[in-house]
Amino acid sequence: MSQDDASLEARLEEQEAFEPPESFVEQANVTDPGIYDEFEENWPECWEHAADLLSWDDEYDTVLEDGNAPFYEWFTGGRLNASYNCLDRHVEDGAGDSTAIEWEGELGETRTYSYAELLDEVGDFAATLRNLGVDEDDVVTLYMPMIPELPIAMLACARIGAPHSVVFAGFSADALATRMNSADSEYLVTCDGYYRRGDALDHISKTNEGLEGVDHEVSDVVVVDRLGDDLKHDLGDNQHDYDELVADHEGSSVEPVSRDAEDMLFLMYTSGTTGQPKGVKHTTGGYLAYTAWTSHAVLDIEADDTYWCSADIGWITGHSYIVYGPMALGTTTVMYEGTPDYPDKDRLWEIVERNEVDIFYTAPTAIRAFMKWGSEYPDQHDLSSLRLLGTVGEPINPRAWKWYYTNIGDEACPIVDTWWQTETGGMMITTLPGVNIMKPGSAGPPLPGIDARVVDAQGEEVEAGQAGYVTVNNPWPGMLRTLYNNDERFINEYWQEYSDEEADKWVYFPEDGAKIDDDGYITILGRVDDVINVSGHRLGTMEIESAVVGVEGVAEAAVVGGEHEVKGEAVYVYAIPEDGYEPTDDLQERVVDGVLDSIGPIAKPEDVIFTPELPKTRSGKIMRRLLEDIASGNDLGNTSTLRNPEVVDDIADQVSSD
Ligand code: WT7
Repeated sequence: MSQDDASLEARLEEQEAFEPPESFVEQANVTDPGIYDEFEENWPECWEHAADLLSWDDEYDTVLEDGNAPFYEWFTGGRLNASYNCLDRHVEDGAGDSTAIEWEGELGETRTYSYAELLDEVGDFAATLRNLGVDEDDVVTLYMPMIPELPIAMLACARIGAPHSVVFAGFSADALATRMNSADSEYLVTCDGYYRRGDALDHISKTNEGLEGVDHEVSDVVVVDRLGDDLKHDLGDNQHDYDELVADHEGSSVEPVSRDAEDMLFLMYTSGTTGQPKGVKHTTGGYLAYTAWTSHAVLDIEADDTYWCSADIGWITGHSYIVYGPMALGTTTVMYEGTPDYPDKDRLWEIVERNEVDIFYTAPTAIRAFMKWGSEYPDQHDLSSLRLLGTVGEPINPRAWKWYYTNIGDEACPIVDTWWQTETGGMMITTLPGVNIMKPGSAGPPLPGIDARVVDAQGEEVEAGQAGYVTVNNPWPGMLRTLYNNDERFINEYWQEYSDEEADKWVYFPEDGAKIDDDGYITILGRVDDVINVSGHRLGTMEIESAVVGVEGVAEAAVVGGEHEVKGEAVYVYAIPEDGYEPTDDLQERVVDGVLDSIGPIAKPEDVIFTPELPKTRSGKIMRRLLEDIASGNDLGNTSTLRNPEVVDDIADQVSSD
């Protein structure tokens, strides 16, 4: 480290609050601090600001319908089409030639789609889907990596009013089957494979394996040919080559189907505390208005910007902030197929420089990796086009925040640390970059119109500095409407804890711990349920446990998250071998494979620890907290309340000797 770097670091270490840079404020979309009061005084009508960012076929009658809470309805009576809003209207407004998608393939090839070209592609594929028999409200599953055909397929579904259910391409065959079964989805769009670190990766075999687990008839499977000669494969009876099908419909245009504001736009599965993932339902009007609004107010996106969110579209971040929000605003959205360290660790910065990216949105896990690799990688590139940085997915530690601020933003870009969830549809707690000061490590105040609080177990607001739980005390347009086909679980998961049903007072519980300071800034402390956040992705411990106990030779298992330098949390498996089985390397490998098969590489255990017993309380509950501490290498404190305290030392010895 040079003298300069060292003194800079020393100075930053001390600094707890940062003013938004003047150059940013001068041009920001939102600069008036009065917006907080304005939204509060004028709630829920304030949300017309969000709806105004869209084109409606029919104006809505009511902003919020709360007669059947917590089944809230937004912009009722309104009709619109999401693909029209993301494409046609920009072309009609004369922006047909401006770039919609700037795609960067992993091997270095690029594809650019103008709004007019993208509209054509979407029209062709919408006609194709309709011709296959896809009707309004049929759920179409999209199992694809970061290739342009994924957003094209999403918008084509939206165009004909068929909800999509995107399954992250890194998920396993089992995960695909579970989601298709849960959604009764009869149509699938997938691809033959994709590139990772230069290697061709087979995706179609995994797809086919997944299809074997689907419990109903699948009418059609459309397969994008991404790998050409790099992967030869045969198409099954009901499988079609994407290009061939689309060629038959070239030049077809499908009129966008006018949808009710409350019609489902898509389903997105997320992990919960049971083995069964939750199908989060988002709607056409409220979701699109909310993602457009937050893209405008928080990400500061304008039509002539080049904006890049490095998430995968297979997660909610990509839905809301690669596709729907940015494209509703008519901006250029960058899509990158590959990994950040291929061919070298400066790949992302090379993409920022070449595309003159204005706004960059990523995850703390990525920032921690960049930090580990060192500032020489961003230093090789001119990043001066950047004006705003964002993070999402997990708490960001102040050190990583400051590294990002200095080394990527050159102290000239505000950082928005955006707290939200699959269920919230869009950002909920974060600073407005042209208004608020930033406090590294703290997401910020709730956005205007959002009544988020930090409360104790009784629902009373905690004092500044005390830890409590996040609650949201009023509805918002981007909220989930229900869990697919499971209203009961929707109520139980999110509304049970703090609501007062008699008083018709409904409080949303996101299951996150937090602190609040005197300025109302909320610092998120992490999940309070049995969910692990690995690299910004939610994984249910139950889901992983059921994969582990499914392995021959395993009697019982507990899965917990342990601290990890880059991933935030990593998966640790504690397993008891069945009688007659030894804790061998072979069993360990089979446990890892079991998790990979049932979920995917993202859930790969960091370690599998065999133990003859699990630490249990006197009432027989597994002490997960203790296992987490062992995995994280923390001080274990008093274990005397355990039924079997001796087992703790055994386990801890094993972990530290690994
Ligand atoms: C959980 C939601 C929202 C898209 C990515 C993850 C954690 C999210 C932050 C943040 C601290 C955060 C929470 C939340 N989380 N953003 N800025 N600071 N924690 O979506 O898979 O639905 O997970 O991610 O624990 O509940 P998700």
